[in-house]
Amino acid sequence: MGDDHVRGYVIAELPGDGIGPEVTAVARQLIDLAGSRHGFVVDWRSCPLGAEHYLRTGQVLPDEVLDDLRKTDAILLGAVGSPSVPPGVLERGLLLRLRAELDLYVNLRPARLRPGVAGPHGTGHHDAGHHEAGHHDAGHHEAGQHQHGLDLVIVRENTEGLYAGAGGTVHRGSSFETATEESLNTRAGVERCVRYAAGLAAARNGRLTLVHKTNVLVHAGDLWLRVAREVAAEHNVTLDYAHVDAACLYLVDDPGRFDVIVTDNLFGDILSDLAAALTGGLGLAPSGNLNPDRTGPSVFEPVHGSAPGIAGTGNANPAGAVLSAALMLDHLGETAAAAEFDAAVDAVLGAGGAGSTRAWADALSAELSQSAASR
Ligand code: IPM
Ligand code: MN
Repeated sequence: MGDDHVRGYVIAELPGDGIGPEVTAVARQLIDLAGSRHGFVVDWRSCPLGAEHYLRTGQVLPDEVLDDLRKTDAILLGAVGSPSVPPGVLERGLLLRLRAELDLYVNLRPARLRPGVAGPHGTGHHDAGHHEAGHHDAGHHEAGQHQHGLDLVIVRENTEGLYAGAGGTVHRGSSFETATEESLNTRAGVERCVRYAAGLAAARNGRLTLVHKTNVLVHAGDLWLRVAREVAAEHNVTLDYAHVDAACLYLVDDPGRFDVIVTDNLFGDILSDLAAALTGGLGLAPSGNLNPDRTGPSVFEPVHGSAPGIAGTGNANPAGAVLSAALMLDHLGETAAAAEFDAAVDAVLGAGGAGSTRAWADALSAELSQSAASR
């Protein structure tokens, strides 16, 4: 530390529904613990949005609440959703609205095969692994035959594409009924997202892969590709390209070819679930909805949903929420605390993982106390 100045952050906590409150409680507790050791304090503002709140009050995201959220330094979200709320209400009305209103144009989704976690080809090792390029028609490998390095970051465009809400239905209910969803891709929107990804690639190992479907989506694909080439050249990073279908195959078969992936909203949504499945499942996967320009708070949430099936059982894995909290700390400039969270999750996983939410919380706080003691 060596610094008497205590930094203060206003953080909104949106626990949400199902396991959301269970996992955010753990993240919050660890953040407070980290604060006491690293010299920052959090002024938590809890905000009851989500399915339960909607069913009780009819409100999804009132303007006054949004205005309060705008004034915070960051937002920690658990998960929202319930089978009793029709599809789209909370997704469009809360999650996508937050992304649009707060200009969260990057959805950052790191995926790393951590020690002790079984990937599709067996247990993860940090042997980056070699691949025989081009042999994707060679059938499946025997388990353990290859060690696959999987340590990548998906930069998903988060405000445009098919998620922008353009489209509609005409002649509803008739046999001529026609439903359209339009993918919006603006030059400015694509460029700012690719710029972020290229900056990240430059800070990692200088490799950026654009994932799209330029052979079919020729209009949007052309825009993305031209922008990616320009921006990559400016940032002096190597640009690769993969069609999204091939990218799925490579992610399973040859993930070492990826480091930073930049892609549109829908492809990023799909690829990030696949990447999560390959790195231990949704329970471990974090995300940050970033406003890189910092004109407002960013939103951090685990990739998993509210999982009503296991809510209340005490078995929710809080690691995805804790790693999302690590992304939040990093974004706030608390990089040492963020790195400790990441290392703590690695340590717990390396020791065989923890079972219950409670066991995870205890194991993670023990790890954090230890890293503090050794400083
Ligand atoms: C995610 C989710 C959301 C998305 C839904 C719930 C709107 O799937 O964060 O990946 O599509 O972005
Ligand atoms: Mn998703």
